[in-house]
Amino acid sequence: MAMPQTPTFTDTEVTVCSEGDFLLLLRAQRPGCGSLDWFREHRQAVMAALDHHGAVFFRGFGTDTRQFQDALDILKPERYDMIDIVTPRSHVRDTLYTSTQAHPAIDIPQHQEMPYRTHPPWYLGFYCEVPSEGDGFTPVHDQRRLGRTIRRLFPAVLDRFIELGVRYVRNFNQYSFKSWQTCWETTSRAEVEARLRKDDTEFEWVDDDWLRTFQRRPAVLRDPVSKAEILFPSFGIFHLTFIKHIAEKMGLTPPPSEAEQALGCQFGNGSPIPEDFIAWIHQEVVRTKVSIPWQPGDFFLMSNLIAGHGRTPYSNLKRTLHASFRGRIDLGALEVARVPGGHEVARELGRPANELA
Ligand SMILES: [Fe+2]
Repeated sequence: MAMPQTPTFTDTEVTVCSEGDFLLLLRAQRPGCGSLDWFREHRQAVMAALDHHGAVFFRGFGTDTRQFQDALDILKPERYDMIDIVTPRSHVRDTLYTSTQAHPAIDIPQHQEMPYRTHPPWYLGFYCEVPSEGDGFTPVHDQRRLGRTIRRLFPAVLDRFIELGVRYVRNFNQYSFKSWQTCWETTSRAEVEARLRKDDTEFEWVDDDWLRTFQRRPAVLRDPVSKAEILFPSFGIFHLTFIKHIAEKMGLTPPPSEAEQALGCQFGNGSPIPEDFIAWIHQEVVRTKVSIPWQPGDFFLMSNLIAGHGRTPYSNLKRTLHASFRGRIDLGALEVARVPGGHEVARELGRPANELA
């Protein structure tokens, strides 16, 4: 695939920090680059960089949190409501929240934000007030590159995801990060049920204080710019390995059965995803992810379609990052079409579609 030319910005040095021109570092070369005028002038260039490259890290722009939010309002005014998000976070003001407040010892695997929604956020912004020196990174990986590798190595599995989609199963019970009341910011069951129906979510009340939801979604999306196939689900988060890791780091009892596990996912028909495929993805994103260590005043914008992100553990308990999300991905509109009559690749290989290639 032809990569776009590295963009140019006024009074800014641009460095490519990854293979495949995926992660760009923009360093301001003079005071005033963080002004709202700069963002007005460069709105199209920044958004084009996000859509063509995937992740853009800003340093030295002299932007405070208020200006960060104002800059996002210029770049992408469509705001995204952070209700129904997996990990705990606090509302700072307006569209600004803290980044995840999951326990500092937890290593959060690479993931897409809110892949279980019918319309996940498209653009993510993170702002660093206080870094944790030497740790607490926000690594990113290129989902287009991952998709190409999967198409080459595991075509039958990818075609199975295209045919069946994915189904997320979430439990809001004593083993989850949040109660259903905290997750939807209401104590009304009727209000939660209305929200779930609106987002095409099946649900059941296991008991008065235990809600289980089922969200069937397209699993493979077509990036409208590069045309790359993107396997969107976040297998590292929706997996028992992560649940056990959280329990261990927080000194909690892990759920006794999969049926009580807070986060899980399956093929769209409820059949299990091959464990060795999930393990391979984990290794591959760990191998290819890249980080730029945070400094105070840095901010990081990324496309939630192209870039997967994670969080490494951190030692400075004062570490403070803020987050604000913009725009919406319509999973249904970007879904890669099913192959009529079955899996072409699987037929070529002469083996069942659910078998690892
Ligand atoms: Fe995240």
